[in-house]
Amino acid sequence: MEADEDVRQGLVHGLRWGLKKSFLDYVRRMPDGRGSVSDGAVPVGTGDLFYEHDAERSDAGVWAFRGDVRFSGHFGMLFVRVAHPWLRIDGTNVELSIEDPQAREDAPRIPLVTGTLRRLGSQDGTEVWGSEDVALTAEGVALFNDVYAEGEPFEPLVIQLPARPTD
Ligand code: HEM
Repeated sequence: MEADEDVRQGLVHGLRWGLKKSFLDYVRRMPDGRGSVSDGAVPVGTGDLFYEHDAERSDAGVWAFRGDVRFSGHFGMLFVRVAHPWLRIDGTNVELSIEDPQAREDAPRIPLVTGTLRRLGSQDGTEVWGSEDVALTAEGVALFNDVYAEGEPFEPLVIQLPARPTD
């Protein structure tokens, strides 16, 4: 079965995210633009990333995902790392943070985007959540060279988690 089909059928738990389509297209247009996906993340479909669920680091308020995604280009001047996204859940608000974009050890995580969480349903032991109104945080602006302002729309999040026994 294709990875894409696994995700659709809810057999895999993780975060599916297109990050920001226009940014991915921009990197693709660069003659030396590169993307790498590792450590628990895989590409799915035509432009989405799938970060696998990290159950050990998750709890009721934090949904943790694993995977290291990096973009580079402009002869090394552009380097963007979106690694190990964690979702902090506060009611219906969600804040997605990532590891230090420069991959410095022991540097704090930074909040990248926020959104409103909606439960989309459950099926076959998997709960599906989504956020449509995903927007860049103030802290995330520098990661994209100050090109996008705070509040810039990013792609929707789709989250698939193991269903709780009460579901
Ligand atoms: C050598 C230095 C750079 C040059 C010459 C450059 C050039 C450009 C140009 C011409 C555009 C608009 C055209 C297009 O969309 O294709 C653009 C957009 C953009 N650049 Fe750069 N850039 C540079 C460095 C960077 C760096 C270091 C970043 C850091 C992430 C960055 C992030 C972006 C972003 C996010 C956009 C908007 C993409 C979109 O959503 O449409 N750029 N850049």
